[in-house]
Amino acid sequence: MSHVMNTYARQPVAFTHGDGVWLFDETGKRYLDALAGIAVSTLGHNHPKVVQAISRQAGKVLHTSNLYRIPLQERLADRLAEISAMDEVFFCNSGLEANEAAIKLARFYGHKKKGVDLPTIVVMEHAFHGRSLATLSATANRKAQAGFEPLVPGFLRVPYRDIGAVQQVAAHSRDVVAVMLEVLQGEGGVHVADAEYLCALRALCDERGWLLICDEVQCGTGRTGKWFGWQHCGARPDIMTVAKGLGSGVPIGACLAAGLARGLFQPGNHGSTFGGNPLACAAALATLDVIDETGLLDNAACVGNAIRNGFAVALAKVPGVVAIRGQGLMIGIELDRPCAELVEQALDAGFLINVTAGNVVRLLPALIFSDSDAQALVDGLAPLIRDFLSQ
Ligand SMILES: Cc1ncc(COP(=O)(O)O)c(C=O)c1O
Repeated sequence: MSHVMNTYARQPVAFTHGDGVWLFDETGKRYLDALAGIAVSTLGHNHPKVVQAISRQAGKVLHTSNLYRIPLQERLADRLAEISAMDEVFFCNSGLEANEAAIKLARFYGHKKKGVDLPTIVVMEHAFHGRSLATLSATANRKAQAGFEPLVPGFLRVPYRDIGAVQQVAAHSRDVVAVMLEVLQGEGGVHVADAEYLCALRALCDERGWLLICDEVQCGTGRTGKWFGWQHCGARPDIMTVAKGLGSGVPIGACLAAGLARGLFQPGNHGSTFGGNPLACAAALATLDVIDETGLLDNAACVGNAIRNGFAVALAKVPGVVAIRGQGLMIGIELDRPCAELVEQALDAGFLINVTAGNVVRLLPALIFSDSDAQALVDGLAPLIRDFLSQ
């Protein structure tokens, strides 16, 4: 009997080491990693700059505490502010923690600035924001919520990409203080919010004095071809959350604030023991440097296009393919039926992929993926999808 709590349906494989876009299992078999640990291994595996940064830092000091100044945290906050045009950063260790901070910040704003006693946050259908009680309540997955009631109140759900629905809320609710969304929904099936919708949301938030919260945990850190997904349309949020790919595998999350959300938290309002410790900040700074210095934003955009175009050609006129979509290296191939077994078939064939929302093949490769990696992925995976759909 395993002593690991049974919270994951795991594939029957264990990896011993990695190298760039490749992972190797205990038998020495290699796999082309098109998932990157669910959008975490931004620079692939064992990137020398990340290895060097964390080794050096480990030899100096791993952790000191937020009771003291942490110069690397200050540098990382400056760097994040520079690439996002946000003002302030709170550091934590994961996506849900970043979102938890965002939710608290929005509620605090409601109480302190708007005099709202029961602040409400508008959230989206098919949203995923995490599995703590508050973020699970903001999440739209009934299956994930079942058994954990009572959920946290204070969320109002509307259809994604429907500005009219948010306008209706505006007309009827006085307690709303913020709108929270993923600019690209990941777990919900890889859905992209268009620029027109995001700009309209920004305008509505401005008009009503609501905070716009963008959850960039999955789509941020360069994955879409810009540092952050909202930058495709320029509608800067008041609060933005990042995690996953920020530390290239070293746990780190961040909640960034600007505009009306700036300057709200004071000492004692929020905290984290580990958040933004020197080791995690060294990993994140190295990650951002490599993205910048090696042109990985452009690479994500170009290789992402190549993958989508490759599948569009390879799966053209294949009955059962509903859509091929995404942005940069966040890609979904929607099929007309549940397709979880494709994950194992791909594994056997030496490809790491994922299926989300039941029927969407999700690809989240590292930002270092090359054109030839893209070609190998299309050549290997498209026949599997074709065979699966022909059964
Ligand atoms: C958009 C989004 N937000 C939040 C989370 C939660 O992040 P974590 O698992 O690090 O808590 C996820 C995880 O998949 C996510 O995709």
